[in-house]
Amino acid sequence: MIILVGSHKGGVGKSTIYIHILMCLILRSGKRVAALECDDQHSVKDWLEDRRAQGIQPDVDYYECYHDIPAMARKLDKKYDIVLLDAPGRRSPEFSKCLAVADLFISLVNPSAQIEINTLGLMVADVFQYQASVNKGLKAVLVMNKCDTHPSDIDASSFRKDIEADQENWIPVARQRLYQRKSYYRSYNEGLSVHEFNDRKGNQARGEIEMLLRELELLAA
Ligand SMILES: Nc1ncnc2c1ncn2[C@@H]1O[C@H](COP(=O)(O)OP(=O)(O)OP(=O)(O)O)[C@@H](O)[C@H]1O
Ligand SMILES: [Mg+2]
Repeated sequence: MIILVGSHKGGVGKSTIYIHILMCLILRSGKRVAALECDDQHSVKDWLEDRRAQGIQPDVDYYECYHDIPAMARKLDKKYDIVLLDAPGRRSPEFSKCLAVADLFISLVNPSAQIEINTLGLMVADVFQYQASVNKGLKAVLVMNKCDTHPSDIDASSFRKDIEADQENWIPVARQRLYQRKSYYRSYNEGLSVHEFNDRKGNQARGEIEMLLRELELLAA
């Protein structure tokens, strides 16, 4: 299975959430997992180099490819159960190639950030176009990231409600939210994932990633 974490917008949290999904799958799913970096900004590679320099185990089966991404992803897909792609945060040729080959596209959006929400229309149009032509099996899901932890905040619930009211023009939104938490970047900063990181909030982030992967049927319930 080939999974893309991507968006048309930069900075939504793709690479950060990517490494947490990656390590959760490696540590908890029992599946053979490969990381395929397709973003020449190398956020995943930088994190892995830091991890390797510190001798942190387990190591990650890491590959990179910036040109013939579909061929490389398909080749890895024969050897691994899951191939996880990180694409650049713009509507780039690399992103298009990833979308052409992915079985599942996970996109992130901050439901409080109109500047991110504004990019979704074109992205959803791209998904529909690929589903109607070169990638009929493509599934896509929007995951709300950096959600406000304040109990009175309603942005995430109203965003989801708006999309559900207009389902046929959107891709589905996952029920599980990822909140704005320091542990997501503090663990990255140390070459770790939230699954290997303990601070007061680390357990909550870990729970969010696990629940999301269960909802997406990537982890057993
Ligand atoms: N859930 C979260 N809680 C707190 N901070 C987050 C969260 N998700 C991402 N971030 C922060 O948001 C910033 C952007 O994240 P990241 O670089 O992973 O985004 P990206 O989408 O990969 O960007 P690019 O488009 O440049 O590749 C980083 O500072 C990261 O630490
Ligand atoms: Mg990135």
